[in-house]
Amino acid sequence: MKRLGLVLLALVMMLTPALAGRQIVTAQEDFVVVVIGKSVHPYWSNVEMGVRAAAKDLGLKDEQAIFWVPPTEDVAAQIQTMETYIAQGVTGIAIAPSDPNALEPVMKKAADAGIIVTTLDTPPVEGSVSKVYIGTDNYSAGFIAGQTMAQLLPEGGLVGIGRGSDTALNALQRTDGFLAAIEGTGIETLEPVNDREDAARALELANSVLSANPELDGAFGVYAYNGPAWATAIKEAGRVGLTKLVCFDATTDIINGIKEGVIDATVAQREYDMGYKSVELIYRMATEGEEAAMEAMGVVDGVIDTGVDVITAATLKDYEASLDAKGIPHEWTTEGWEPPQ
Ligand code: BGC
Repeated sequence: MKRLGLVLLALVMMLTPALAGRQIVTAQEDFVVVVIGKSVHPYWSNVEMGVRAAAKDLGLKDEQAIFWVPPTEDVAAQIQTMETYIAQGVTGIAIAPSDPNALEPVMKKAADAGIIVTTLDTPPVEGSVSKVYIGTDNYSAGFIAGQTMAQLLPEGGLVGIGRGSDTALNALQRTDGFLAAIEGTGIETLEPVNDREDAARALELANSVLSANPELDGAFGVYAYNGPAWATAIKEAGRVGLTKLVCFDATTDIINGIKEGVIDATVAQREYDMGYKSVELIYRMATEGEEAAMEAMGVVDGVIDTGVDVITAATLKDYEASLDAKGIPHEWTTEGWEPPQ
């Protein structure tokens, strides 16, 4: 009897993976997830903090949740890193594809090898092998940025756009959303300048746009590098308050820009959640099955929308309180600072 039970159990264990359409990782120590980001930047350090927190909560060892970024935008390095982890046979890879078309073949190679592939921060191509995209709805977020700029420039004006990629879909969708929101408002935009996620280049470009357009009415910072770059250029040109600045993200230098009054508004992403949820989703997919994990984590049409917060000087304290309430770490503080009346 006991023997029959064991045989049945073995049969069930053999069949379960086939039924779930994927290998179920039974041994916790076999699980390895890799999160591949886009550049060395405090924004990505926040993603990494989320990765570490999830790993800790799931009882994973450090080497079971690997985080990797290239120094600046580097599609070839992302592909190479994917290849390395495919060869190692990891359980899952979450990637922010700097060029989704260029990354798709290697993402497919990973999926074909039985590795769970998801995306975070910037979406994959349509029809991708990526099971789920975890991040901002970039078009809507860009639209919000455009509406904010339109409120700051009720008479219209000329606006410069700085971004860190001409291929990553998040940069393109944010720009599209921004342009859609300012349509018919009397705001004109310059051609976006691309720094490929190089902070020094972002500053050079911001300076040159401002010196070529000394009366620039507004600037839009599409990536986390861009707000601070525009802020420095605007300060150096003596244009604080004259060139309105709307940007993305809430890293320390951006919050400082808001406190100083050089950044008018920023669309803060929830990158800590992107890192946390990427690890959690892949872990649950591997241990509970894909469908169950997606349902439990609220995946809708292949997306977990992490949401955004619009921050201005008036809402900064509330934003800080909301991060504190969620236990999300941040190195900046509003202590000793009051919003201007
Ligand atoms: C974007 C990332 C980018 C980061 C740093 C963020 O706004 O979502 O894709 O890597 O800025 O430039």
